[in-house]
Amino acid sequence: MNKSLFDFDKEDAKSRHKKLTEQIRHHDRKYYAEDEPEISDAQYDKLRIELEKLEKQYPELVTKESPTQKVGISPETAFTKVKHSVPMLSLSNLFEDEDVHDFIQRIRRFLNLPETENIEIVAEPKIDGLSCSLRYENGKLVMAATRGDGTEGEDITDNVKTINDIPHELSDTPPEILEVRGEIYMRRDDFAKLNKQQEEKGQKIFANPRNAAAGSVRQLDSKITAKRPLKFFAYALGEHSKIISKTQWGIRNKLEKYGFKKTEPAYLCSNIDEIIKTYHHILQTRAKLPFDIDGVVYKVNRLDWQERLGFVARSPRWATAHKFPAEQAVTILRKIKIQVGRTGILTPVAELEPITVGGVVVSRATLHNEDEIKRKDIREGDHVIIQRAGDVIPQVVSVLMEKRKTGSEEFIFPDHCPDCKSLAIREKGEAARRCTGGLICKEQAVLRLIHFVSRDAFNIEGLGDKIIRSFWEEGIIKSPEDIFKIEEKIKSGQLNLKDREGWGELSQNNLIESINSRRKIPLDKFIYALGIRQIGQATSKLLAANYHDIDNLVTNMKNKEEEYEKLLEIDGIGESMADDIFGFFAEPHNLKIIENLKKELEIIPYQTIDINDSKIAGKTIVFTGNISISRSEAKAQAEKLGAKVSGSVSKKTDYVIAGQGSGSKLKKAQELGVTVLNEDEWKELSSS
Ligand code: IVH
Repeated sequence: MNKSLFDFDKEDAKSRHKKLTEQIRHHDRKYYAEDEPEISDAQYDKLRIELEKLEKQYPELVTKESPTQKVGISPETAFTKVKHSVPMLSLSNLFEDEDVHDFIQRIRRFLNLPETENIEIVAEPKIDGLSCSLRYENGKLVMAATRGDGTEGEDITDNVKTINDIPHELSDTPPEILEVRGEIYMRRDDFAKLNKQQEEKGQKIFANPRNAAAGSVRQLDSKITAKRPLKFFAYALGEHSKIISKTQWGIRNKLEKYGFKKTEPAYLCSNIDEIIKTYHHILQTRAKLPFDIDGVVYKVNRLDWQERLGFVARSPRWATAHKFPAEQAVTILRKIKIQVGRTGILTPVAELEPITVGGVVVSRATLHNEDEIKRKDIREGDHVIIQRAGDVIPQVVSVLMEKRKTGSEEFIFPDHCPDCKSLAIREKGEAARRCTGGLICKEQAVLRLIHFVSRDAFNIEGLGDKIIRSFWEEGIIKSPEDIFKIEEKIKSGQLNLKDREGWGELSQNNLIESINSRRKIPLDKFIYALGIRQIGQATSKLLAANYHDIDNLVTNMKNKEEEYEKLLEIDGIGESMADDIFGFFAEPHNLKIIENLKKELEIIPYQTIDINDSKIAGKTIVFTGNISISRSEAKAQAEKLGAKVSGSVSKKTDYVIAGQGSGSKLKKAQELGVTVLNEDEWKELSSS
């Protein structure tokens, strides 16, 4: 049982504080950096509220690092960081109708207003997307940034310029400097369409519209963002050189004049009753809106009052979010199905009696893993409470034990793969069980092929999931190299695609053409296509940059003894990844596939640009401390010029680039006599 807050003594409070902080940080990372939340907003809010209460009772536990003092997390990605001229804050939350009363009273007290004075409130939906700040100078869009940690975000200007709702140039007469804040989001129907396309192409399926929007904005290639159906609602201002209105309502209208879509539906309420009625109205009509919302935002209408109210910690006093309760429903769990993933991971999925939750029909829910089923004692045939918080894949919250049928049996997680029947084992410290079937497991084989042809890998159009599946069944494509033999087989009469159902001359030719157009492939894409466990696009690039061509890579990877340490020296590759890489190249079958593919392809070595002139080609470089551009960008620049970027300083290091706040690495470089450069010296060297 959980202790109530008041039972806590200080030691308990301290350890609970630590636990909560860790949990919140973990979920922040999942939500903000990886776009893959594991818990619903409501569950997350609970953690935050408990932490806030704990800190109220034990103020000595508050530190600058506490999640209560920060919004989100610092951006760590490859995008350039930008400081917000006016911080992008978060909103405090309300959950109960009664809390609205307290919110208004607090404002009244702060402003010292008599009971007779009306406090007008603008109420509008809280859009479930990602916030964005747009900076206009002389009416022209000059910068778009994500919220990041509230003070510093990521420059997403190029990507944002592809969104139709965002004007590149403002209409009317905007102030010289105007920062418009709002939410980038995706409509539910567009989200469903996008996911369908993703599935057909064997690409990442997004958990919900918010993640799809965030994932689309965070693309390194703005051409991809341009293809995603993103939208934008404007709802507030950041820096502005001239006052454009005296009220929030007026700002809404001005924003519309400038060319933005204002957040709808919105209402101007003049008392608490009206606010609460508006909340319930929006809550009830929520499913009819074409986009996800997770609450109603209340904002004081008068801007002079907003100014006086100001901010506290991470949120304004003049606004708050009245959150919706998580949507739950009871249904019957028909069956627990085990899905096999590309790398053999077995994932349990609940097949449900379809039910509508918050306007959406749900027929499947995630069960996470073996331990989760055991912990909640979930059995087939149970009545279960499922929850859809609008933001995560539906989850099974708990079982209604009183409705359990007698004779129901505890679910035993299979120790064999449901597909190929090979043993499925769970390694120490791992949450997941894995099929050991490898090559003989059909499901893994098919998923690997789907990955091989997917957009970020070989990007072969015309080979969707269904086609791959049936080609596999029929023996047309069993292994990646078979893809490149299709044309030959057609020409020699061994294969006929054009007379298949749904095919024709044109689609047959198109397929051949799209396959042939991919016979030349950059090394990093080739490595990524191999589908080595844990090796995504970024690591594939690292491997390509460090080993340059396929033969060099294969030769070195076959030599684990000598190469292990060297591989670990690459910044971004850890032990577990290294084990998976060597594991892959230790399989004779994998080497055979590479050999066969080499006969069909031209694998372009990583260095296509002429690096002969670069002074840093072949040099080993270590970055440490803070420099003006992000670490990822610096690394990419150096690698482009043929340098190898390492995470640790050794005798083999040629240059250490030391920014501000350099510590142990700088010291080590000095001890070893390695050349240390400051950022300017580095810029000069790398541009010469
Ligand atoms: S007003 C000072 N209005 O909710 C903050 N925010 O949890 C003023 N959001 O970061 C924000 N819909 O990204 C405002 N209609 C709306 C909103 C909205 C969604 C987001 C925004 C903010 C977050 C706070």
